[in-house]
Amino acid sequence: MASQLRALSDIIAGNLSVLEAAYEQEGAQFPSLDDPFQPTPLDSDPLLAHTKQLIAAAAAQLVANVRSPVEMLQEYSPGMYLTVTLGLVVDTNVPDILSVAGHKGLHVNDISAQNGVNPSYLARVLRFLATRHVFKEISPDVFANNRISSLLQKAKSLEEIQADADEALKGSVLFSEFIQNPERAASAFNIAHQTEAKMWDWYEDPGNELRARRFAAAMKGGADRFPAEIFDNDVVVDIGGSVGAAVLHLYKSYPNLQYVVQDLEKQIVVAKEFWKENAPEAVADGRVELQVYDFFTPQPVKGAAVYFHRVNIHNWPDREAKTIMQTMRAAASSSSKVVLFDIIATHVCEDPVSELSTARQKVPSPLLPNLGVAGAGIHTAMDIQMLTLFNGKERTETEFRELGRCTGWKLEKVIPGLLPALVFSAA
Ligand SMILES: C[S@@+](CC[C@H](N)C(=O)[O-])C[C@H]1O[C@@H](n2cnc3c(N)ncnc32)[C@H](O)[C@@H]1O
Repeated sequence: MASQLRALSDIIAGNLSVLEAAYEQEGAQFPSLDDPFQPTPLDSDPLLAHTKQLIAAAAAQLVANVRSPVEMLQEYSPGMYLTVTLGLVVDTNVPDILSVAGHKGLHVNDISAQNGVNPSYLARVLRFLATRHVFKEISPDVFANNRISSLLQKAKSLEEIQADADEALKGSVLFSEFIQNPERAASAFNIAHQTEAKMWDWYEDPGNELRARRFAAAMKGGADRFPAEIFDNDVVVDIGGSVGAAVLHLYKSYPNLQYVVQDLEKQIVVAKEFWKENAPEAVADGRVELQVYDFFTPQPVKGAAVYFHRVNIHNWPDREAKTIMQTMRAAASSSSKVVLFDIIATHVCEDPVSELSTARQKVPSPLLPNLGVAGAGIHTAMDIQMLTLFNGKERTETEFRELGRCTGWKLEKVIPGLLPALVFSAA
């Protein structure tokens, strides 16, 4: 055991030296947790990203080894308080209020004077978060933003942070109930919100306009996180494209292609506003068509060069995912491609299916092969979110290949990236 701990600490020490050397060479300082977030060129260096991932994976694994199992469970089981306290500080503008105060911070009484939250409750919430490195308490009851809390400012990412917030939170309470009685409803979300409708159809209901808008706003982010170079001709259909943020990104690089963005009615309403703001000429001259369309009806665009879905398939259980793939097959020509931009799930342990194109880089022992919370952490969290909201799932490459195989598509290649692209051709 001692040797495992030592191996983990060696991974941390060795990679810290790599990190220090890289910053020294640039004459830069590694950003401090105490300062508000400021992007630096080295943040996005892919080699250093892996170095930082190894450090974080080893540190998390070291903590899990060193702490007693009781302590670990005491940390994990009240995880919902992290969600609700983050939600509260965002709702009540604390990061924005603190951003004006800078390094010297503000007393909770002064924060309370601006947002109306009882200062004694606020102090406890902020202490809970500062204990977990979100905000810092610089003197008793005086709090300031740090690198993490500064990112919660509304100007930057409120919509992203709040997306799915109450939809998922309420569903998560019924998670165990659903898993133990899956025949009771389509998902935990459905039990929690007492509806038989899928979340998307529920968004279309009167009273949920704000939620539908909030979701559409959240999907504008990260639109460039996929390899665009695969599109080189003809008609490209973004199915379930929400406002069409991914198409806007493509349109800027390839303005001569023909694009169709398809989604349910409420999303297309928001899409029209989005295109009016960002590229009105594209819609006016017919380069981009915004079309109301339901996945489970025949695809009106026949023989497109590319049909693509970005982060949609993971919303659906296998039965519906197959129908979506079959509907595209029925509309496709022999040269049409389907491209799915989606997370690819991986096993925590080594995967003996070695021909996978997503084969992982070997990581030093005794790290988890998926790098734990520092690697597949967000993917596994998304998987549970999909399960909670839709009984959907993140799929392994093998599962994607099988999904294609039984619906008339052959998985041709996987282009790695932050959001990998799975390219299928007609079988
Ligand atoms: C996770 S979002 C992804 C949006 C978009 N592809 C993107 O990456 O920004 C899922 C999208 O699928 C749409 N959707 C859900 N059910 C649908 C259906 N039956 N027909 C068409 N679109 C649907 C939703 O309205 C939503 O915009």
